[in-house]
Amino acid sequence: MADAFILGIESSCDETAAAVIRNGEQILSSVVFSQIFTHMPYGGVVPELASREHLKAIVPVVRKAIEDAGRSYDNIDAIAVTRGPGLTGALLVGISYAKALSFALDKPLIGVNHLEGHIHAVLLELRQHGHHQVQFPVLALVVSGGHTHLYLAEEKDAAWTYRDIGHTRDDAAGEAFDKVAKLLGLGYPGGPIIDRLAKHGDPQAVKFSFAQMKHRDRNPKNQHADAESRVDFSYSGIKTAVLRYVELNNMRAAIEERRAALKAIAKPTPDEYLRLCDKQTLDLVASFQRSVVNDLVSKTFHAATENNVSTLLVTGGVAANAELRETFERRGSEKGLPVYFPSRPLSTDNAAMIAAAAYPRFLAGDFAAPDLNAEANLRLR
Ligand code: KG4
Ligand code: ZN
Repeated sequence: MADAFILGIESSCDETAAAVIRNGEQILSSVVFSQIFTHMPYGGVVPELASREHLKAIVPVVRKAIEDAGRSYDNIDAIAVTRGPGLTGALLVGISYAKALSFALDKPLIGVNHLEGHIHAVLLELRQHGHHQVQFPVLALVVSGGHTHLYLAEEKDAAWTYRDIGHTRDDAAGEAFDKVAKLLGLGYPGGPIIDRLAKHGDPQAVKFSFAQMKHRDRNPKNQHADAESRVDFSYSGIKTAVLRYVELNNMRAAIEERRAALKAIAKPTPDEYLRLCDKQTLDLVASFQRSVVNDLVSKTFHAATENNVSTLLVTGGVAANAELRETFERRGSEKGLPVYFPSRPLSTDNAAMIAAAAYPRFLAGDFAAPDLNAEANLRLR
């Protein structure tokens, strides 16, 4: 069969991205334009600004992805685009552009679920290394700024189907990193900053506790004897606990000083962040990270055991976290359970994962209708 070149487009949150992938396994180009510095002064993503930035970036980002791949618009076989979940206005920029390209070039359009994209970031790199078949059942933890979801995946007719067996009841894990960083005057996005600073603190210094949220499925449709056990997460409590610690330990003045000092630096370096943190802050950050990582790891392995899982995939922005990766790898080798992550650049939002997730649909001729629309709350099943 002839090679298939898929152009992927991603614009669900604060990254405008485009990539060209050959046969779902070889990255010919992957361009990611991050809006971090636009949103930094606000301590989080501002939806209206995100749409405006996507509008400015989409044409040059797609053009660069085509050029970097050494191809032209004419010799692309299909256009894949994220259709949800995400910010509606942001999604619509990618979708409208993908539709226009599909119409003008007369190439098929494929709509991709962003969460399935994160899962395909792992599969894409496994295939790149010649590893074409993973053992089912597969458990995938998708952990990002918007999601903390456990999916049990099975393969049916070469396509994957997913069952949500646990998710966060409130904040996503990445959201907790972002909110805690903001609270401590460390800016946005919190994950990469906390990841770097945590190495310099004592993770045992502050004790945080999590509720054990393992229970039988309460869905009335699943009330049979072997109803599966669910594992849910909750990360809004730890943010409140950090806030309480800050108040009790009179850390406010130091935090405001740090916030002002960082505001005066256009693009702070890791050393500048470190210089602006005292030991108490570093210990707090390290303890916060250790608690979140341990909670994610222990609940995921609990679900893996309950469901006799053969392979574990960990993906999404928070999967870039060094302590999370090390802890998952250690527990995986103790338990004899293979754990796979994407490389760091493919952990956070990108379009290579979108083009890779589209490949099985391309082969199946599963194309989107011209009225494809953004679905902010799209589920994965
Ligand atoms: O997957 P992603 O790029 O976008 C969403 O789909 O949400 O994930 C972004 C999230 C942010 O909350 C960010 O703080 C977090 O991932 N993140 C990290 C790290 N890098 C990004 N969290 C912890 N450690 C990191 N190294
Ligand atoms: Zn994402």
